Formats: sequence, C-alpha cells, structure tokens
Amino acid sequence: MDVYGLIGNPVEHSLSPPMHEAAYEALSLDARYVTLEADPDRIGAAVEGADALGVAGLNVTVPFKQDVLAHVHPTETAAAVGAVNTITFAGDGTTPEGHNTDVEGVVRAFAHHDVPIEGRSAVVVGAGGAGRAATYALADAGADVFVSNRTVERAEALADDFEGLGVEGGGLDALEDRLPEADLLVNATSVGMEDPDTSPVPAELLHDGLAVLDAVYTPLRTKLLREAAAAGAETVDGAWMLLFQGVAAFERWTGVEAPVAVMNEALRDRL
Ligand code: ATR
Repeated sequence: MDVYGLIGNPVEHSLSPPMHEAAYEALSLDARYVTLEADPDRIGAAVEGADALGVAGLNVTVPFKQDVLAHVHPTETAAAVGAVNTITFAGDGTTPEGHNTDVEGVVRAFAHHDVPIEGRSAVVVGAGGAGRAATYALADAGADVFVSNRTVERAEALADDFEGLGVEGGGLDALEDRLPEADLLVNATSVGMEDPDTSPVPAELLHDGLAVLDAVYTPLRTKLLREAAAAGAETVDGAWMLLFQGVAAFERWTGVEAPVAVMNEALRDRL
C-alpha cells in the first residue's frame, strides 16, 4: 500500500484526505492519505522520518511551506516561489523533491474555465504566501501582473523578487487605475473569509471581460465573486484552486492522470 499525507499545523479540518482518497477509490489504487501534525521544531526530522517510514509523498501546508525548503531539492518553480507544498520521496534516503503545485492550481483553475493567461493583464490582490504563488503562476504563464497589497512594502518587495518576470506592485489604491484595464483578477487575501460581507475590491471596479479567481473557498460564493458575477465577469471559486493543486500533486506522485471530476465532487460535497 502507498501512503501519502499532509503535514501542517493544524490539519484536522483538511479537505485533502477525502479528495485524494476519492481518486484512489475511483482508480482502485492501493493507497491511503493521512494527516500528520508535525512538530514545528522538528520539521527536518519529520521529512526524513516520513521517507524512512516509506511514505511515498507529502503535501505541506501552513506553517511549513517555507520551512521544508531546506530539506528538499526544490524544483525551479518551488525555489522561485520560496515555498513547497508537495514532496516526492524516492524511498532510498536521497533528498526528496519539493514541488509547488499551488502554482499549477492557479494556472489549471483558469485553464479549466477556458480563461487564457498568456499576454493578458492580471491583478493579484495580496502579497502573502498565496499572493506570491498566484503572482508567479500568472507571470510565468505570460501575463503582465500587478500586485496590489494593503501593506505597500510587501507588494513592492514581491514585485522586486519577480522583476525579471515584469511584475509590478503597489497599494490597494492602485486598483482604481489597474483593475478597469485588467483581464484577470486573483484575490489572494483572506478578505471575505471571516466576514462574508467583505470584499478586497470595490464592486464598481469589476467589469465584464474580467475573469475573477478567489482563493477563498469558505464561503464558496464570496462577496467578491457575487459582485463579479453581477458585473458580468467570469467567476472561478477557490475550490478550483484547491482541486487543481491536489490534482497536480496526485499526478506527480502516481504518474496517472487524475480523475478530476471525482476529486471535484469529493471536495464540493464537503464545502
Ligand atoms: P497567506 O500566506 O495565506 O497569503 P498571509 O501571509 O498572512 O497569508 O497574507 C495575508 C494577505 O491578506 C496579505 O496580503 C494581507 O495584507 P497585508 O500584507 O497588508 O497584511 C491580506 N489581508 C489580510 N487581511 C486584510 C484586510 N482586512 N484588508 C486587506 N488585505 C488584507
């Protein structure tokens, strides 16, 4: 039996186990997906221990996505983003590979909705870990990206890091200029989650011709997505991002095409 898992803290409410196990069942794979609450002070030992125990692959979530970088060989994407959310073990004690499938999650969520990225103008709101992954994903896929963040310095630092990809950054006030011209918008802040009657973006800046991806998935229909739909924009909810990062991890681990519809249903059943 192949064992996969998620390390993070906390992990008990994760939707990854049902999503991955639905895929194993659909394809009759002899595999299990477990959640593991790692000790923050022993994250290196946790990664090594997982390998020694024969774990085939791990997802990594908050707060360990940056910490595990030092214990894996990161792919170019994971190194550029500075975060790893998927580890593959060879099972022989060699340093495991660290991937960032959050980046693929963004690209594939748009692709699934037939929204092109290359050559388009994108705005990412938020400059934390999610903002970094979304910004890299869109810029690497050929969009012109502007990062807008409440704390301007964070957006500027992120833009500096991805200067080579043409990324620019600024405060939330820049949305007024940038958003009316944009084709793509990603909310990578937590706004809309705790208080479902808040949106990170003024409704009057939303327009048809815009495709809006909200990384928030609780609730699924955020205020931003409701207002985007009312403005005639295409909407992509946060479950798509969650789904496709999982799909990408599954395919990397198993080498098999993921049963996307099955995984999507397992996820949405629980949202
Ligand atoms: P994550 O790694 O999930 O992206 P994070 O690093 O805590 O989490 O980042 C949260 C993001 O949401 C940040 O961009 C944050 O803005 P600041 O950098 O200014 O803190 C943004 N955010 C959180 N609450 C916000 C609010 N009420 N208004 C605007 N932005 C907010």
